[in-house]
Amino acid sequence: MSLNVETKQTTPYEGQKPGTSGLRKKVKVFTQPNYTENFVQCILEANGTALVGSTLVVGGDGRYYCKEAAELIIRICAGNGVAKLLVGQNGILSTPAVSSLIRHNKALGGIVLTASHNPGGPENDFGIKFNCENGGPAPDAFTNKIYQLSTTIKAYTLVPSLQIDISKVGVSNYDIGGKPFVVEVIDSVANYVRHMEEIFDFGKLHDFVSGKSNGKPLKMRIDSMNGVTGAYVREIFLNRLGATEASVVHTTPLPDFGGLHPDPNLTYAKDLVETVAKGDYDIGAAFDGDGDRNMIIGSKAFFVTPSDSLAVIAHYLDAIPYFQKNGVQGFARSMPTASAVDLVGKKLGKEVFEVPTGWKYFGNLMDAGRLCLCGEESFGTGSNHIREKDGIWAVLAWISVMQHTGKSIEDILKQHWSVYGRNYFTRYDYEECDLEPCNEMMATMEKNITAAEFVGKSFSSEGKTYKVKEADNFSYTDPVDKSLATKQGLRIVFDDGSRIVMRLSGTGSSGATVRLYIDSYEKQNVLGQASVMLKPLIDIALEISQLPKFTGRNAPTVIT
Ligand code: G6P
Ligand code: ZN
Repeated sequence: MSLNVETKQTTPYEGQKPGTSGLRKKVKVFTQPNYTENFVQCILEANGTALVGSTLVVGGDGRYYCKEAAELIIRICAGNGVAKLLVGQNGILSTPAVSSLIRHNKALGGIVLTASHNPGGPENDFGIKFNCENGGPAPDAFTNKIYQLSTTIKAYTLVPSLQIDISKVGVSNYDIGGKPFVVEVIDSVANYVRHMEEIFDFGKLHDFVSGKSNGKPLKMRIDSMNGVTGAYVREIFLNRLGATEASVVHTTPLPDFGGLHPDPNLTYAKDLVETVAKGDYDIGAAFDGDGDRNMIIGSKAFFVTPSDSLAVIAHYLDAIPYFQKNGVQGFARSMPTASAVDLVGKKLGKEVFEVPTGWKYFGNLMDAGRLCLCGEESFGTGSNHIREKDGIWAVLAWISVMQHTGKSIEDILKQHWSVYGRNYFTRYDYEECDLEPCNEMMATMEKNITAAEFVGKSFSSEGKTYKVKEADNFSYTDPVDKSLATKQGLRIVFDDGSRIVMRLSGTGSSGATVRLYIDSYEKQNVLGQASVMLKPLIDIALEISQLPKFTGRNAPTVIT
């Protein structure tokens, strides 16, 4: 039976402008009449003529409204000439899994249903993001096109009568006005697990994790925080690597993440940190809602900053078979990320790139064969195996390093710092501030730090003095396509390489979140306590920015 395409009239919604990583709004915003329909239609139209006859991947982190949105997207894709959809069972696919599927299936792209680490549930956030054929988040030019289309949209097309049950794996064939349309509901984890098996030595890791190699099973606590990684974690760590059931927790994806804020950091992964601090564990790890972020802690909750995590993995790439096969190209980090990896790159004679915040900026460098490993302070680590950061990949990388060195996480870090020195790093977040005063604060600070007399100025606190070497609002010219990204964050660099960085978050769904990043390098004094070592520079940052005055806040909501 042939199904009919229908055209529905609509009017634009304001504010359908994708942020750092897709469009994120409250569920209540997405469920307004035609809101999701409009945005999906614009995503599809932004692909131009390539859309007709294409294959797309659809899936998300299982948060509230995911399944309904997936079904709606299927109907809209059917109405717009897409030939084939690969849809995760029940609409579930982690963000790294989507990226991997796009690449393996040579799809035109993927629609990812997630608000990443933002809380879920009817009162919380939902999000839609488009990834392009390289598997990475759409670049600025593409998302701007989506936004432009959203301001003038007049109609969308869909096949309202298309019935689909995405809870069952299998292929459904449709005839849409005489043209074939295929929906393949796929096992959410199979392709991703296969991909990890190609990258890592699962045989070695199995013997190490299960204790077969030395009689001592690895004591792990892997916390999926009720996000999408649950099913992936169970298959990889329990079934493939022989970990015990007690090694994995919160592995059932829940629409509201069980009320948790699914962000793997010291504040929101408190349960993990406290349990590992009290218990007998070799490694603790957590992921965010959609599985691209990770946090690694060692025994007694020894915290590995994401900046250090990247640098350590860079140093030990030999421990991962993928890099032996594919070679080691350059490294990269986002601008606010501490520059620990730069030192490893320098030692190994590799290019190191500093890009704006947002994983999308790594894609071009990877596609051009200049980048194989990158990371961000926002708990993102990954490689050129896909075009997203990858939480489970990062844990497998760390376990590979532990297996390779035979050392504890703390000893691996101490050894690393003794060779390279240490970048003490912290990030203060001031969440849900009023937008206006924050904009004013940023504008005032930009004016002050870019004034001619600012360079060369000295600031002192608690006996430490820092002299300004340079200061700007970071801008970046992509070395591959020469596209320019401006106003990516205020940055003050001091003589000794220490830095203060301040920017407004691009991933919130309401109000403004101020992020203050403090990066202080020490060649010798590497065993101090981060909060103590960084205190003087934090005070200087608060003085320069006048943050308490503008935001009315005397303390951050989150410290990482
Ligand atoms: C997402 C992106 C990351 C980015 C982060 C920054 O997780 O995938 O690449 O680092 O957002 O978020 P922010 O809230 O600081 O803009
Ligand atoms: Zn995420």
